[in-house]
Amino acid sequence: MPRLHNFSAGPAVLPVSVVEELRANLLELNGSGIGLMEISHRSKTFQAVVDGAEARVKRVLGVPADYTVLFLQGGASLQFYMTALNLLRPGEQADYLVTGTWAQKAIKEAKRIGDAKAIWDDTANNFKRVPQNGEYAVRDGAVYLHYTSNNTIYGTEYHHQPDANGHKLIADLSSDIAGVPCNIGAHELIYAGAQKNLGPSGVTLVALSPWALARVPDGLPAMLDYKVAAKDGSMYNTPNCVGIYVLDRVLAWMEANGGMPAMIEKNRKKAGTLYAELDRTAFWRPHAEVASRSVMNVTWRLPTEELEDKFVKESKAATLDGLKGHRSVGGLRASLYNALEQDSVDALVHFMREFERRNG
Ligand SMILES: Cc1ncc(COP(=O)(O)O)c(C=O)c1O
Repeated sequence: MPRLHNFSAGPAVLPVSVVEELRANLLELNGSGIGLMEISHRSKTFQAVVDGAEARVKRVLGVPADYTVLFLQGGASLQFYMTALNLLRPGEQADYLVTGTWAQKAIKEAKRIGDAKAIWDDTANNFKRVPQNGEYAVRDGAVYLHYTSNNTIYGTEYHHQPDANGHKLIADLSSDIAGVPCNIGAHELIYAGAQKNLGPSGVTLVALSPWALARVPDGLPAMLDYKVAAKDGSMYNTPNCVGIYVLDRVLAWMEANGGMPAMIEKNRKKAGTLYAELDRTAFWRPHAEVASRSVMNVTWRLPTEELEDKFVKESKAATLDGLKGHRSVGGLRASLYNALEQDSVDALVHFMREFERRNG
């Protein structure tokens, strides 16, 4: 079976060269005589992998030198709670821009700790856009503003850095980190599950500023404490060794292929190709408002659900996989992460034209 064009939202397509490198290192990691899944996380060989990954995160993603980089477990979903637990005290305020399901989940967890408030919420509009600056006001007493840079399910994305009105900024960058411009140094804390642009599932990247680290109160449960993770170099407990290794190799692949500038350009081109087709005829019904369209996850509907089912089935037969929309919204979704090549988008557009000709 040939590899299909993989439009999955995550876990998602990885560079073939990285998968091949992984295959070789599963048998023997970097000349150590021991396989990647079998080597001690306390070995010098694996420590070099972690150190390399941390340096590469800073270099490739532009994380400031004085920030702490962590590789944690529990997904971005655990970070919904951990960010609030570590940065917020009971009774303190934190403001949230609620632009989709993941933002709803983030604020729900923060409410367990403090006075978390949705200061902008697009639920009634079925999450078709993100707010522009000036459409919300952060409360005077808010410790931070939290936003979700890219809404994987709805296909909306900020194309500007949300204004925190002079407050601290924290962000869930899970589905567009490393794929679009982002000034990480303007944030006190960012987090991202790796399984879209950075690697496999099971490892979560967190980067936090000295301010954020200093906010962490004493006495938190060890596994939920950023200070513990920082002190032990992400190895308070046994980390996801395979996940960290692949994340490092994906970043090395990025570096070898022009780094962030090249990824940004490639992603804009892919998204431009697909949106041009979606705008060509009224048969396609894009979900997101134009100004909020995501470069990473493109969502659209067809005139009927029957046609959407048919599209998913026939596209799969045409080697295009993962196009079914998230179960909560239906329709179609194409995820265009860094490792997806332009020829996959071209193949999708070719299929769409044929499909519209037969069914439009
Ligand atoms: C933007 C965003 N945040 C959070 C999550 C949840 O991530 P995880 O499954 O790693 O907990 C996802 C998952 O797709 C996501 O897209």
